[in-house]
Amino acid sequence: MFKYVCSDCHREYLTESLMYTCPKCSKENDGKSFLKGILSVELDDETLSKAKAKEHVTKEDFYPFETKYSSYFPVGPTPLMRSEKLSQGLENVYFKLDNLLPSGSFKDRASYLVGELALKLGERKVVLASTGNAGAAMSAVGAALGLDVLLFVPESAPVNKLMQSILYKAHVIPVAGTYDDAFALSIEYTKRHGGINRNTAYNPFTIEGKKSVSIELFEDLGRDKPDVVYVPVGDGCIISGVIKGFMDLKRAGLIETLPEVVGVQSTGSDAIKRAFDFADYSSIVADTIADSISVDLPAAGRMAVSYVKKTGGRMISVTDDEIISAELELAGSGIFSEPASSAAYSGFVKDRERIEKKYGPGVKAVVLVTGTAFKDMKAFDGKVRMPDAMENDVSALDKIRF
Ligand SMILES: Cc1ncc(COP(=O)(O)O)c(C=O)c1O
Repeated sequence: MFKYVCSDCHREYLTESLMYTCPKCSKENDGKSFLKGILSVELDDETLSKAKAKEHVTKEDFYPFETKYSSYFPVGPTPLMRSEKLSQGLENVYFKLDNLLPSGSFKDRASYLVGELALKLGERKVVLASTGNAGAAMSAVGAALGLDVLLFVPESAPVNKLMQSILYKAHVIPVAGTYDDAFALSIEYTKRHGGINRNTAYNPFTIEGKKSVSIELFEDLGRDKPDVVYVPVGDGCIISGVIKGFMDLKRAGLIETLPEVVGVQSTGSDAIKRAFDFADYSSIVADTIADSISVDLPAAGRMAVSYVKKTGGRMISVTDDEIISAELELAGSGIFSEPASSAAYSGFVKDRERIEKKYGPGVKAVVLVTGTAFKDMKAFDGKVRMPDAMENDVSALDKIRF
């Protein structure tokens, strides 16, 4: 069993039915400052002590309800990769390759659990808004588990992400507006026409799905926590999920302290960093090449700020140029990562000296790779040149400089 707890007023709600936001705090939402009333799902002590007693834990030990269809849509464990080239001289830097999940992004973790929830509740319709990846992930889960997916996306979303959702047979509605407009429309649609709404953070089970990465990391690292984790941040839901996973491991008595979690935003979309540094919770006008982290009014912004503070972590911002350089560097080292996900690596590079000073050269750092570069090849426009065709003649081979 579990209970819902409001992340703002901390009121508790004991019900097995699906709740979205705290009925009291969500009344204060005015569309201008970060959403209030995001709920967290708190597991009961019995579930956690069962997990503690196990020799090895899996994400299933920490889900709030029994899941049945993981073999129909497996969401990890994803590989943990090392790279001498990318480690900046540190000994223990790891890349968690969530770009290798079935639809190519971390969002599969949340969408899978919402798919399970829909089947458990006997609901076949799932509605959401997305910058692209959550939509593709939910569409993939829908295709695999037999659910109907209605997806609102900003019309500016990268065509590959939209095409992917269409190929998974979702009903895709591009909105002539921003992601935040699509978010509001999708919620209104569910209120009027039903179905489960999967919007990030608005549906508290998205965070429960996302926390599974931390349970994996704990086992990946030999039942230990990393010192620092780097996470790209838009709505703040992934980073909240990562931290929630470690909070659950701590509550279960499997780790003693939380790792430091560092959120990375684009300087063109840094609403959560501003809130973190200056307690400014107002909406911004986001503008970044990293479409997946381009957010005006972060859905899990308040939760992300308070959770990152609990870990002793920080927020970093990086420019779009730094993001693209990071993407090229990652690709050149064998990691194919979209711009949003490359921001995390860029943040690690900026933070490297500080963590070496704090933890020593053996610092155990994890960089979360959240999406594949196939999602947005346009981001490379002007950055790499497609070579001209060579003459189809063996004599031309001698002209190759290699
Ligand atoms: C690839 C990728 N990385 C990072 C993020 C940021 O996650 P969040 O919006 O939960 O902060 C997203 C969200 O869409 C994403 O798709």
